[in-house]
Formats: sequence, C-alpha cells, structure tokens
Amino acid sequence: MLFLQLFSALIFYSQVQGVTPYSLQNCMVHEQWSKMIKVLCYHQNLPRVPSHLPWNVNNLDLSENQIASLRQSDFSKLSLLQVLNVSQNQIHLIEEGTFTHTSSLKILNLTSNQLRVLSSSMFDGLGNLTVLLLRENNIDRIEASAFAHLMKLKVIDLSSNKLHSLNALDVVFKVKSLEELHIRENNITNFTTKDIVNVPMWLRELDASHNPVSFIDVATDALYRLLSLDLSFSGTHNHITWIIQDPCFLKGLKRLYLGGIFMTPLDIGCGPKTELLFARGDPPK
Ligand SMILES: *[C@@H]1O[C@H](CO)[C@@H](O)[C@H](O)[C@H]1NC(C)=O
Ligand SMILES: *[C@@H]1O[C@H](CO)[C@@H](O)[C@H](O)[C@H]1NC(C)=O
Ligand SMILES: *[C@@H]1O[C@H](CO)[C@@H](O)[C@H](O)[C@H]1NC(C)=O
Ligand SMILES: *[C@@H]1O[C@H](CO)[C@@H](O)[C@H](O)[C@H]1NC(C)=O
Ligand SMILES: *[C@@H]1O[C@H](CO)[C@@H](O)[C@H](O)[C@H]1NC(C)=O
Repeated sequence: MLFLQLFSALIFYSQVQGVTPYSLQNCMVHEQWSKMIKVLCYHQNLPRVPSHLPWNVNNLDLSENQIASLRQSDFSKLSLLQVLNVSQNQIHLIEEGTFTHTSSLKILNLTSNQLRVLSSSMFDGLGNLTVLLLRENNIDRIEASAFAHLMKLKVIDLSSNKLHSLNALDVVFKVKSLEELHIRENNITNFTTKDIVNVPMWLRELDASHNPVSFIDVATDALYRLLSLDLSFSGTHNHITWIIQDPCFLKGLKRLYLGGIFMTPLDIGCGPKTELLFARGDPPK
C-alpha cells in the first residue's frame, strides 16, 4: 500500500517537473529544474504578443501566429529571455525600444514576416545576440546604424529578401563579430568586392547563391580570409562573367560552390588548393 502511494507520488512528481502547474491561455509552460522556463505559444492565431508572460521565461516560441507588430511593452519585463522565435507571423513593424530590456537574448528568429526596412534603432539593446534570422521578409533597405550595438552577432540570415546590391549591405559588413552571412535569393546583380569596404575580421562563410548576378569582379582582397563562398545558381540565364584580378585575392578560400552555372574553372587562390564544388548542378564542360 505504501509502495503504491509512493509510486503514484513519483509519477505525479515527474509530471510536475516537466510542466509547471500554472498555465497561460493559448500557451504551454515548460519548466526544467525551475530555471529554464520555456513558453510555447505557436500556432494559436494570436493577434499580438500575450501580456502576462512569466517574467523569468528563457525561451519563447510565438511562431505561426498573426502578430503584426512588436511593441515596446511586449518584452520589457523579460530580462532573462535568451531565445525568441516570432517566425511565420505578419510582423511589419518593430517599435523602437522593443528590445531594450532583453539584453540576454541570444537567438532572434524573425523568419517569414513582412519587414521591409531595418531601421536604425530596431535592434537596440541586443548586446548579447549571436544569431539573427531575417529570412523570407521584404527587406530592401537597412539603415546605417541598424546593427550598431550588436557586438556579439555571429550569424545573419537575410536570404529571400529584396536586397539589390552589396553596397546596400555595407552596414552588415560593418558588424565586426560577424562570421556567417547568408544573402541567398535576393536581387543582387553585381558582385564586386569594390562594394565591400569594411570586412569583418572573422567572416568565414558567405552564401550569395541564387541571385541574378551576371558579373563577378574580385577586384580587391576584401574577402581574402573567407573560407566558404557560395555562388551557385547565379545569373539570370546561368551565364556569368568572372573577373579575378589577382588569384591571391581569394587566398583563404577552401570551398567555392558553383553548382548550376555555366562557367569554366578559374585560377583562384594562391595558397592551399581551393575545392571547387559543383554539387546540385552540372560541372561546366
Ligand atoms: C522556434 O525556435 C526554437 C528555438 O530555436 C525552436 O526550438 C523551435 O522549433 C522553433 N519553432 C519553429 C516552428 O520553427
Ligand atoms: C526559425 O524559424 C523558421 C521558420 O519557422 C524555422 O524553420 C527555423 O527552424 C527556425 N530556426 C531557429 C534556429 O529557430
Ligand atoms: C549580456 O547578458 C548578461 C547576462 O544576462 C548581462 O548581464 C549583460 O549585461 C549582457 N550584455 C550586454 C552587452 O547586453
Ligand atoms: C530587381 O532589381 C531590378 C533593378 O536592378 C528591378 O527592376 C526589379 O524590379 C527588381 N526585382 C525584384 C523582384 O525586386
Ligand atoms: C553593374 O555593373 C555594370 C558594369 O560595371 C554597371 O554598368 C551597372 O550599372 C551595375 N549595376 C548596378 C545595379 O550596380
């Protein structure tokens, strides 16, 4: 009898450990070791960020809702928030100051929203952010100091937007801590390193594939530390003119992806051999 009571008590205990006794309308609250609070509110048709979120939430998933804007007050009490997923909403506006009190945030997922301009103060306060995902928006402009205070940012994904030149990405290249940049599927027609003035010291990976690039001009050594460059499926008719003024301008390159484009292999790199990868497309004849 005692054994049975103990047994059911154990079951009860293991249940409360997974999910806390309190709940939030439309959301599930998971608590692990009473420290990691995860709040899941995805796919609930929410028109806005719920108020009364637990102050100590670390991980918040608001994806797949109908949220149209992020407001100053939405996250102002969530100073322990580390991961925020607001992907697959209708966000076209992020108010200035929205993130000023979420300085612990490390991952911000804004994939599949309606952002058009990244404004100067939009991301203020995100001094610990390492990953910023902005894929599948309508971004065609990034204001000069949009990323100015993101001192720890390592990964930016701007794929599937409307950016039209490397020049317009000047502000992205100014992020000193940047290691990985994805600008796949935009509207970039000229890829010339002359448009890249500042290059982050640690930038290792650049994915510029699936852009209507017809002209690649490696005219400076701006990208000489890059390890991986993806230019596959460039060009409108898959024809591409490549000018590389000095093979040493890409001397750090280990992998160059050229799948799906018609081009003869070039002499690139002047150190250890660069691997040319034609995966996902045919090698040029
Ligand atoms: C939202 O982000 C979190 C953390 O990165 C992840 O665990 C979750 O699967 C994401 N949700 C969706 C729908 O992708
Ligand atoms: C970001 O959101 C997209 C779309 O919901 C999802 O596919 C992806 O896994 C998410 N990534 C992270 C790191 O949460
Ligand atoms: C980074 O996060 C830590 C811990 O949450 C916090 O104390 C610190 O102020 C944050 N740094 C910045 C630059 O925001
Ligand atoms: C791409 O840019 C060209 C001009 O360079 C413009 O005419 C065209 O409308 C743009 N396409 C998209 C999908 O934004
Ligand atoms: C692309 O480069 C060509 C040749 O240098 C130039 O005529 C054209 O104006 C450039 N287009 C853009 C959008 O920068």
